[in-house]
Amino acid sequence: MSIPSTSTLNSSAITAALGAKARRFAIRTLAECDSSNSRLRDEPSPDDGRVHVLVCERQSAGRGRRGRQWLSAPGASLTFSMRWRFPPETSAPAGLSLVAGLAVARSLEGLGVEAVQLKWPNDVLVTGRKLAGILVELVGGGAAGVEAVIGIGINLRPLPEDDLPDGLAVAAVSELLASPPSRERLLAGLLLQFDLMLETYGAAGFAAFRGAWEQRNAHAGLPVRVGDDAGEILGTCLGVDDDGALCLQTDAGERRVIAGDVSLRPAP
Ligand code: BTN
Repeated sequence: MSIPSTSTLNSSAITAALGAKARRFAIRTLAECDSSNSRLRDEPSPDDGRVHVLVCERQSAGRGRRGRQWLSAPGASLTFSMRWRFPPETSAPAGLSLVAGLAVARSLEGLGVEAVQLKWPNDVLVTGRKLAGILVELVGGGAAGVEAVIGIGINLRPLPEDDLPDGLAVAAVSELLASPPSRERLLAGLLLQFDLMLETYGAAGFAAFRGAWEQRNAHAGLPVRVGDDAGEILGTCLGVDDDGALCLQTDAGERRVIAGDVSLRPAP
């Protein structure tokens, strides 16, 4: 198996795996940074028509959704961020988080990972365990169009259980594939999948992917609780709408929840 080493990724292997699309991306690899999302978000916006990608081997302050920490051990994860620009006329960012989750799911499925599921808005699960997390942050806007930094963390090897917060079950690529690809090929496959899907997303919005997302919905038809520190809604998960909002059947009727700083948990 070709997964880990703790060295930075090999740039020429990434370029080779991207093939004809290599020029579409500007890729930097770093041995260490605080957070690849923070770095890309805080840099001046490049406008050279390329997608800027930052891969960090070790993050000292990796960030997850809802202000949480993202834990990863060197060599045990693929952690990177991409900066995408959408034209002003697109419906971005509605549903963008969900499209990102679906792109990761499809990419992993293409490698042979089975039974990939999505937990709204964008956790990637296998048998209920988290295989990948995604953090989407909007950075620009206005006349130049919307820009988003999309950060991905994929577990390549299991993290030591002692390092995990209570109750978090994780899956890792090394357990799911007999012959995992190199990290360079995995990264290139993800970038190509994002490129393909975000082009469609830019033209047609999340609606173009709603059916594919629903097929992988880990909580379809199940009781869930959705909320933040201010409160929770209990209901049955009906699916998502064309904007990627979660639709719930509650005692008070149908409710629609927009992906933001909310989390979804199974309800008893
Ligand atoms: C989550 O599940 O809460 C989202 C996790 C996102 C983690 C990735 S790792 C690369 C990028 N840099 C960060 O600081 N976070 C994202």
